[in-house]
Amino acid sequence: MSIEELEVFLDIATEAALAGGAELMSYWGNLQDIQEKGSPGNLVTEADKAAEKAILKVLQRHLPDHGILSEEAGKLGNLTSRYLWAIDPLDGTTNFAHQYPFSASSVGLLIDGVPQVGVVFNPILDELFRAAQGLGATRNRKPIFVSETTTLQKSLLITGFAYDRRETRDNNYKEFCQMCYLTQGVRRSGCASVDLCSIACGRADGYWERGLSPWDVVAGIVILEEAGGKVTAYNNSSFDIKSGKILATNGKIHDLISKALIETPSLAHWDTDVSALL
Ligand code: IPD
Ligand code: CA
Ligand code: CA
Repeated sequence: MSIEELEVFLDIATEAALAGGAELMSYWGNLQDIQEKGSPGNLVTEADKAAEKAILKVLQRHLPDHGILSEEAGKLGNLTSRYLWAIDPLDGTTNFAHQYPFSASSVGLLIDGVPQVGVVFNPILDELFRAAQGLGATRNRKPIFVSETTTLQKSLLITGFAYDRRETRDNNYKEFCQMCYLTQGVRRSGCASVDLCSIACGRADGYWERGLSPWDVVAGIVILEEAGGKVTAYNNSSFDIKSGKILATNGKIHDLISKALIETPSLAHWDTDVSALL
């Protein structure tokens, strides 16, 4: 893929994410229609649908031959194409419904299955993250880079908890306890795409989460990797988008987090520790 072609796709992705973000802002603080889908607490609103419509309109106008995977609309367009757009029109719907300002439109492009273009726009905080493979990553058009932190003791981490957390033992609770113990802190912002961008711009050092879908991560992966970060599975093997499990860091603490996640004690260990304090 030539740099010129990637630049064109990055501009189209930017136009789409800005269009999605503009729709989101028209509903900010003014949501009438909030519904649940699938697992309890998994919300969908009129803002998700309006932002998706605006994003799809831009992509379909410029690139009618490409494939699209969009959270609410599903699979669209030419799915045999080597180009597949992964769209989350409103990432952070729960935040949005509560007016907690971590929400974004996320527009990513996989070429032959590899994330190569990504734009994440949080219209509430007016943060526009952009990247394409080989072109670097920016926040509001200024270059960004991952942090220099090299130890867990000095790290600030981010994680999240999927909607199926009440139905599975693989719910991330024990990993959360382990990381709270080992680091300066763990944040849960409720917006996976922005979480990846937070690692990319160095305001946190590492992020892990399970239960994610391609539309949550494709754009953020490109932004993080172009900012110098690293993305793998928890055990440091190659990231598998179908697994929904991601470890994304500044690169310098990657092996340390991977080891800590793999060696996380069972919750019984933490229960014992906590009860001893009561
Ligand atoms: C969710 C957010 C959240 C993450 C969930 C995602 P949604 O996306 O990214 O941070 O923990 O796993 O599903 O539903 O708000 O688009
Ligand atoms: Ca999402
Ligand atoms: Ca969403």
